[in-house]
Amino acid sequence: MRFLLIGDVFGEMGRTILKEELPRIKKEYGINFVIVNGENIAHGKGIIEKYYKELLSQNIDVVTLGNHAFHNSNIYNFIDDAKRMIRPINFIGDIPGNDFVTINYNGIKITVFQVLGNVFMPVEYKNPFHETEKILPKFEDSDIIICDIHAEATSEKIAFGLHFDGRINIITGTHTHVQTNDAHILPKGTLYMTDIGMTGSLDGVIGVEEEPIIHQYLTGEHKRHIPKSNGRKQFNALMVEINESTHKVTKFDIINIVQ
Ligand SMILES: [Fe+2]
Ligand SMILES: [Fe+2]
Repeated sequence: MRFLLIGDVFGEMGRTILKEELPRIKKEYGINFVIVNGENIAHGKGIIEKYYKELLSQNIDVVTLGNHAFHNSNIYNFIDDAKRMIRPINFIGDIPGNDFVTINYNGIKITVFQVLGNVFMPVEYKNPFHETEKILPKFEDSDIIICDIHAEATSEKIAFGLHFDGRINIITGTHTHVQTNDAHILPKGTLYMTDIGMTGSLDGVIGVEEEPIIHQYLTGEHKRHIPKSNGRKQFNALMVEINESTHKVTKFDIINIVQ
């Protein structure tokens, strides 16, 4: 069976290119299961119920979030009922939302969870390695386990991938909004990729208008970030094929479409 993992859908440009490209890509690759990162789907920060429902109406199986999960307070209105949405497992404190989602696909139990990295992040989270160790025993009867490591540092993500190699079927990164070209099968069989990228503006700075950001770097003065609304769009994703009986990764393809 074939999975499609789509990088952070950013604002209106992200939602637009997702709608435009997803049906064709699903058909072309014969995709069975779609996972989308939605932490930036509402104007670049967070998610609202309307867009969550829009994703479900596009037959998306699981929506992951990230450090921006709670940046739009509308999430509190629907998170308790959002059965196909997960937030990271390692926020500090007692917060609402699912640690993981398990879906039965034609008798195959697929579990998806997400963890935040700690390196170069503005706030601290529980140790991603320790929290993943703690949660893995819950997935003993899952056939396929997929983990999204939402983190900034390439080294932390690579170390995470190698540490859990052979225990998680797919480990892919999100958060940097820049697609890496390092998808590969690790020595014990896990499909690993440092960052699957972003689905949104190509011409801005990781999703937002470039001018305020350049100004900030030139002067040190902080300016409000504005989601980029013109120029080229990109669709970043990864296709992974897994054998339905052995649960081994048999094929993968990095997808980067520019419009
Ligand atoms: Fe993001
Ligand atoms: Fe993020």
